[in-house]
Amino acid sequence: MERQLGLFLLLLTLAHAFPAAPEPCELDDEGVRCACNFSDPQPNWSSAFLCIGAIDVEFYGGGRSLEHFLKRVDTEANPSKDITDVLESLQWERLTLGNARVPAPMLFGVLRFLGFTNLKELTLENLEVTGTALPPLLEASGPNLNTLRLSNVSWATRDAWLAELQQWLKPGLKVLHIAQAHSLNFSCEQVRVFPALATLDLSNNPELGERGLISALCRSKFPALKVLALRNAGMKTPSGVCSALAAASLQLEELDLSHNSLRDTEGAPGCDWPSKLNSLNLSYTELEQVPKGLPAKLSVLDLSYNRLYRQPRPDELPKVVHLSLTGNPFLDSEPHSEGYNSGVVVAPVRSSLAVGLSATLAVLQGAGLFA
Ligand SMILES: *[C@@H]1O[C@H](CO)[C@@H](O)[C@H](O)[C@H]1NC(C)=O
Ligand SMILES: *[C@@H]1O[C@H](CO)[C@@H](O)[C@H](O)[C@H]1NC(C)=O
Ligand SMILES: *[C@@H]1O[C@H](CO)[C@@H](O)[C@H](O)[C@H]1NC(C)=O
Ligand SMILES: *[C@@H]1O[C@H](CO)[C@@H](O)[C@H](O)[C@H]1NC(C)=O
Ligand SMILES: *[C@@H]1O[C@H](CO)[C@@H](O)[C@H](O)[C@H]1NC(C)=O
Repeated sequence: MERQLGLFLLLLTLAHAFPAAPEPCELDDEGVRCACNFSDPQPNWSSAFLCIGAIDVEFYGGGRSLEHFLKRVDTEANPSKDITDVLESLQWERLTLGNARVPAPMLFGVLRFLGFTNLKELTLENLEVTGTALPPLLEASGPNLNTLRLSNVSWATRDAWLAELQQWLKPGLKVLHIAQAHSLNFSCEQVRVFPALATLDLSNNPELGERGLISALCRSKFPALKVLALRNAGMKTPSGVCSALAAASLQLEELDLSHNSLRDTEGAPGCDWPSKLNSLNLSYTELEQVPKGLPAKLSVLDLSYNRLYRQPRPDELPKVVHLSLTGNPFLDSEPHSEGYNSGVVVAPVRSSLAVGLSATLAVLQGAGLFA
């Protein structure tokens, strides 16, 4: 018994002294998702071959610098036929590259290789892109992406980064997310038109603000834009955002301003909202009243989780089909107020609801309109 225990302890000690280096890459049972985390100081890079047959692929560099690889790879050379054959046969649809310091020529070299694949979505996160790269020999030789997401990517080329990155992408990009940007003050004259971009998400840039928004929305470079998301983007007033949209002459249909601390600007100069705007999200914006100067007519208006202490009067609201007021304090006090106001306040509100605000009534009855 004692001997067995001794052997067991010895095994434990050995296991502790020589821990099996974890394989950096893992493929799920369905063979769909493959993720590699090369955080080990001496990672086994060839483990990445595990991901060749996957569809969703993630590579994380463990915060390492890839600069020393630059001496070993020729980022300009054309890939050989063997390599392009492999690239063309890849099933990769979504790729994430993250947590590394990468020289620009290497990143753009990767994009050129991805130009041979059918990749649809690319995410770059927590990257520091160093140095500059020569423009591509062949325009738009990178991937034909549908969606590009960047989060916390810094660029040595500062304000010129979008124009530089854009040269590699085919022009079909439809969705662009840029979060935690280090610069959104684009050099607009260098940016070319994004002919198919329908959704621009600049959420989680708390330093942006209305002024920054004007420089980010390069005028006439986003002619197809329909949806703009500005959650937690340092926006101050709906009218300020309206002016920025007007300056960029965007014909938006949906605008998301949720998670900004908005205030109403009394007597702000009037602003014409985009005529096709039909959905406006003002939830979680700390509003104490419905801001003045909202579009006159909307299909969707989300005013949920604000600080509305009283039921908005119909004349304060745009004509709206789907209105959400959930999570506002006036809804909590409603049942009590009915008691001690003897219905005096409540009754007129009800009758005006009947006129045009059946949607509000549905919310009051506890029905989620966006369920
Ligand atoms: C990669 O592994 C390191 C060390 O185990 C860990 O701290 C880090 O969170 C991992 N990164 C990702 C993106 O999973
Ligand atoms: C590195 O990974 C490859 C592929 O998974 C594997 O065949 C090889 O044995 C690994 N090498 C080491 C030293 O772990
Ligand atoms: C942003 O990315 C850098 C690497 O470029 C990293 O050091 C930093 O921790 C990241 N910040 C956040 C908030 O994730
Ligand atoms: C934005 O860039 C312009 C030049 O393109 C410069 O004049 C301006 O100061 C920059 N703004 C910020 C906030 O960096
Ligand atoms: C409005 O934004 C909030 C928070 O970002 C979100 O939960 C909600 O679904 C959005 N409402 C609509 C109508 O999309």
